[in-house]
Amino acid sequence: MKNITIAIDGFSSTGKSTVAKQIAKHLGYVYVDSGAMYRAVTFYAMQHGFINNNHFDVEGLVASLKAITISFKFNKDVGFAEVYLNGTNIENDIRTLEVSSFVSKVAEISEVRQKLVEQQQQLGKNGGVVMDGRDIGTVVFPDAELKLFMTASAETRAERRYAELIERGETVTYEAVLKNVQERDYTDSNREDSPLTKAKDAIQIDNSNMSLQEQFNNILQLAKRTLENSEKL
Ligand code: CDP
Ligand code: CDP
Repeated sequence: MKNITIAIDGFSSTGKSTVAKQIAKHLGYVYVDSGAMYRAVTFYAMQHGFINNNHFDVEGLVASLKAITISFKFNKDVGFAEVYLNGTNIENDIRTLEVSSFVSKVAEISEVRQKLVEQQQQLGKNGGVVMDGRDIGTVVFPDAELKLFMTASAETRAERRYAELIERGETVTYEAVLKNVQERDYTDSNREDSPLTKAKDAIQIDNSNMSLQEQFNNILQLAKRTLENSEKL
């Protein structure tokens, strides 16, 4: 059976990673969370003092990029590949609201994007991959056989993310989460390098009123149809 590439882009908390993991598991594909890579670089910048009291030493971070190695290792207990920074599992450290509040600034830096896009293209070079992010269908895999663009209202997304953070034990307010979601929407969509935008050939899905099951069924159908069509080629 042919291995296709599935690119899932969209705004924060639209359910991209949840559905990407489900589809990858169902098809026996590799799932790559490209956002985790931007979060890993942000976490590194915070750990090494390049981000401190709202001061951001961009040049210092860029000069240190060579010292950053990001890898993924499949954890069978959770059913997906967790992210590692220089050999340390940081899967749980990178989901905080603090990392979320700096990550879009880090993702504006072209040198960071260049490094991560190169690695993402390597990870997906043989197909059989589901990757989610902001520029997967436009920049990383412009030839992906299936491209999805996920949207939902900012309020719905903030409610979802707020519930997740509370479940993880973080002390946050809904208002702070909504503000972060809106600020990232803006920064990600308006940056110069690889802004978040729907690829011309992407299928847009608004899941504001869709359950996880409906969303999975819907996207699995699209994936199966794309697989059938690509096998006919
Ligand atoms: O999970 P959530 O949607 O909140 O974010 P994420 O996918 O973990 O991505 C975090 C941030 O990384 C985004 O807000 C973008 O600033 C950046 N990002 C990017 O620029 N390009 C990607 N392909 C993926 C993420
Ligand atoms: O990867 P992204 O930031 O786009 O979103 P996610 O981490 O997959 O989903 C964010 C939260 O929204 C998760 O807790 C999902 O379970 C939830 N969600 C939902 O309840 N209904 C949907 N249709 C999509 C996501």
